[in-house]
Amino acid sequence: MEVKVGIVGCGVVGTGTVALLLENAKVIEEKTGIKLSISKVADKDWSRPREYEVPSTLRTTDYREVIESSDIVVELVGGKDFAKRLLLEALERGKHVVTANKHLLAEDGEEIFKKAKEKGLMVGFEASVGGGIPIIKALREGLVGNRVQNIYGILNGTTNYILTQMLEQDVSFDTALKRAQELGYAEADPSLDIDGWDSAHKITLLAFVGFGKLFPFEEVYVEGIRNIDLLDVELGKDLGYTLKLLAIAKRMDSEVELRVHPTFIPSDNPLAKVSDVYNAVLVEGDFVGKTMFYGRGAGSKPTASAVVSDIVDIAKSIGSCKSQSWLWESKEGFRINKNFY
Ligand code: HSE
Repeated sequence: MEVKVGIVGCGVVGTGTVALLLENAKVIEEKTGIKLSISKVADKDWSRPREYEVPSTLRTTDYREVIESSDIVVELVGGKDFAKRLLLEALERGKHVVTANKHLLAEDGEEIFKKAKEKGLMVGFEASVGGGIPIIKALREGLVGNRVQNIYGILNGTTNYILTQMLEQDVSFDTALKRAQELGYAEADPSLDIDGWDSAHKITLLAFVGFGKLFPFEEVYVEGIRNIDLLDVELGKDLGYTLKLLAIAKRMDSEVELRVHPTFIPSDNPLAKVSDVYNAVLVEGDFVGKTMFYGRGAGSKPTASAVVSDIVDIAKSIGSCKSQSWLWESKEGFRINKNFY
């Protein structure tokens, strides 16, 4: 079965998604029986440098062409206004959508989810939280049998990178932020990262999936790391604590506490050991107990991996995926390597 995927926004994540779809289409087809093809990729500026050359036949500057030619529309533009119009328009025209836009979904998602429900369409947002960690899928599927009790996360790669650089390399806040921007981790407006808003968007979405309610964003307590200096980080270290920007969703009977703030974590706690651009999410469920998920929380390739997982999930539902069971047979002809004896 062939499914056409169109992408709007070809920045860091868009470029990674194009690369993944072109390079791994065969592997995905082997695993799922689904042939994903890119219909069109829209961006307003094709002259900016990219890490991967998008074939000229796929490029357009007109997002409508993407909607027209695709079964699934992927929004990777970021920001709120245009992205919202795009998603609503795509849904209105009967297209499933995938987005990495935590800002839009956490603050304004109600209308988008409502429209998708009305139309019987899907909104994939795995890439909006935790970069490459399949945390939305884990909460929605793997932990479906649980009442979620608590979610604790290091959800922002940029601030975790900054805090790690300050702790391990003794670099200043500003230098570390500049490095995070150069590596493509930071938001276009980095105050979303450093003031805690990005983590707050993400914990709102995790709470949405974990507790089944999109809580009003303005009720999340948010404090970032702008006022942290090297001395705070170093003093904490001397006392056996590591400073992290923690996002918390905590069930208290019928209430849920949602908050983001810098937290001193005992240095032997697994969350304290999450460094650089890595993210981690600890979920506590009533039957499973504690489970922890870990991976790269930002950057082109990990986020593309999450975008593609949504695309494949939706593609499976389009064709009710009769083609293959979840067991697949690789064509790589693997053999056992016994050279370590
Ligand atoms: N700016 C975000 C971060 C990108 O640093 O985590 C990934 O959502």
